[in-house]
Amino acid sequence: MSGKKMLPTMRVSIPPLAMPPPPSLALRFCPVGPPGLEQVEAADACVVSIPGRYCMSHVLVGPDCLALVDVGSNADLPLIEAALAWLDKPLTWVLASHLHFDHCLGLDRVAIQHGARVGLHPLAHATAMGGDKLRGPGLWSLRLFWHTWLWQGAPLIASEDRAEGLRFGFPWSANRFSAELAPALREGHALAGLPGWRVLHTPGHADEAICLFHEEAGFLITGDTLRNFRGGEWNPLLTDGRAYRRSMARLESLEIQAVFPGHGPNVLGGSIWRRLRPLPGLAGRV
Ligand SMILES: [Fe+2]
Repeated sequence: MSGKKMLPTMRVSIPPLAMPPPPSLALRFCPVGPPGLEQVEAADACVVSIPGRYCMSHVLVGPDCLALVDVGSNADLPLIEAALAWLDKPLTWVLASHLHFDHCLGLDRVAIQHGARVGLHPLAHATAMGGDKLRGPGLWSLRLFWHTWLWQGAPLIASEDRAEGLRFGFPWSANRFSAELAPALREGHALAGLPGWRVLHTPGHADEAICLFHEEAGFLITGDTLRNFRGGEWNPLLTDGRAYRRSMARLESLEIQAVFPGHGPNVLGGSIWRRLRPLPGLAGRV
């Protein structure tokens, strides 16, 4: 690619928060090990990453407000609340990278607690308003799910999540939020209060998958469109393979220096697209 631009210097630190010990099964079996708390800054972008029971949560820090991307479990709320208190700015956005249970079971409660609006892809927004149900990954690709669950630490569904009826992200879930929904997040949507961040529609793993991109900083929040159990990899768990390959090609055209994945540690530094593991079964990179 020609015309490569210089991305601003990245600063990485560890927020001064007490974190529970990581799951022993993830320590033992996950190739890259469990993720930790991390704050990454460049230009005017700042992301605080918080490991959760089933997925990573990421807080986007704006000048006067915060946005929280993905809350897999209500059991994650104590650490998330500690992080929000430490950041000491109002939480105005709660965003779902997609509506799989492991990314969204805790979203509604945290949005209600903070009076934040829930931001969703138009397909997820429509289903949350009572429209058509969302497709899930095919049964064939679900065979890939179980070992990644082990890498996640084989978490049992938390009692806090069972108590709320598993009403988000499962095939039977109604996905009805009690918190206020923001208008659907269109392609290119800018997030009010978070300068530089915009929404990318990246279908494939899920039809309703979004990424959040900060062009100046070269930061990309990916949900499950990218993950890091094995050093940073494309996700073979797919709802729509052709759409996913288009999303891959689109993302590869972006200049980035940090991926904030839905699972596993952040992937930081240069040449990220070349470092990613390809989809299994494909000759080389797509
Ligand atoms: Fe997912």
